[in-house]
Amino acid sequence: MVKTVLITGASGGIGYELAKVFARNAYDLILVARSTDKLQHVQTELTQTHPIQVRVISQDLSQPESPLALFENVQQQGLTVDVLVNNAGFGDYGPFAKCDWVRHNSMLQLNMVTLTHLTRLILPPMQQRGYGKILNVASTAAFQPGPFMAAYYASKSYVMSFTEALAHEVKDTGITATVLCPGPTRGTDFQARARLGDVDFFKKLKLPEAAAVAQFGYDALERNQVVAVHGLFNRLLVFTNRITPRRAVTNAVGQLQAPQQD
Ligand SMILES: NC(=O)c1ccc[n+]([C@@H]2O[C@H](COP(=O)([O-])OP(=O)(O)OC[C@H]3O[C@@H](n4cnc5c(N)ncnc54)[C@H](OP(=O)(O)O)[C@@H]3O)[C@@H](O)[C@H]2O)c1
Repeated sequence: MVKTVLITGASGGIGYELAKVFARNAYDLILVARSTDKLQHVQTELTQTHPIQVRVISQDLSQPESPLALFENVQQQGLTVDVLVNNAGFGDYGPFAKCDWVRHNSMLQLNMVTLTHLTRLILPPMQQRGYGKILNVASTAAFQPGPFMAAYYASKSYVMSFTEALAHEVKDTGITATVLCPGPTRGTDFQARARLGDVDFFKKLKLPEAAAVAQFGYDALERNQVVAVHGLFNRLLVFTNRITPRRAVTNAVGQLQAPQQD
């Protein structure tokens, strides 16, 4: 029986790479993002290279009503979602007091509320069938406060905490929940969209590719791993965070991410 995965934020970056991994593993795909042209491009590419069905849905997922609209669209098409990948998300860099509230509000809606609402809608049908997998994309930002991206870091802490608790609630029911925590990743638009251009550590580090992060996330989902931190460097960082006073960690991130003085 062919399984179907719904991936949010599949028009580029990690979501696009996840779509390729699921395609290689013979899943049918439902790909969601705003950019119709990019989604259609991915659809053409993946149907030409794999014997699978690829459906695309153009939708802005940062609106409060969008999860229900997406769910109803999927139901009306008679589709079953076996795997839900909540990947769409973005960051917004700068001092919190100066943030553009409309943009920040969209970020919080997309990163947290849409992810939670979609899960709430898609989980019960999974439970009825006794099978389902949920992959939520958080970040290594989930593990500590992040001055100058305060709300983004907090949103990813939410995603991690939510997913860990959900994994506990659904254990032994045929459903699994995994949270993927990438560190800074190459081959995505994250940095540009978050306006992180002038942050030094993003420029200096040798970053992993989105394709490697996606494969790692898929493997973690297959293993039913709950928390999956990508890369040895990131795992070391997470371990160091755990044994360092939180205030010291916050200061360190604050120094790393402080806007450059001209
Ligand atoms: N790249 C990194 O360094 C990094 C590190 C840790 C965690 N992450 C997390 O990884 C996830 C994927 O990000 P990425 O790095 O692949 O960034 P990306 O290249 O900017 O891709 C983001 C995806 O989300 C979609 N998206 C953005 N806003 C949307 C909206 N309002 N409605 C629907 N779709 C929307 C985008 O498509 P459209 O623009 O077409 O809508 C795109 O497909 C995010 O949750 C991010 O927080 C990224």
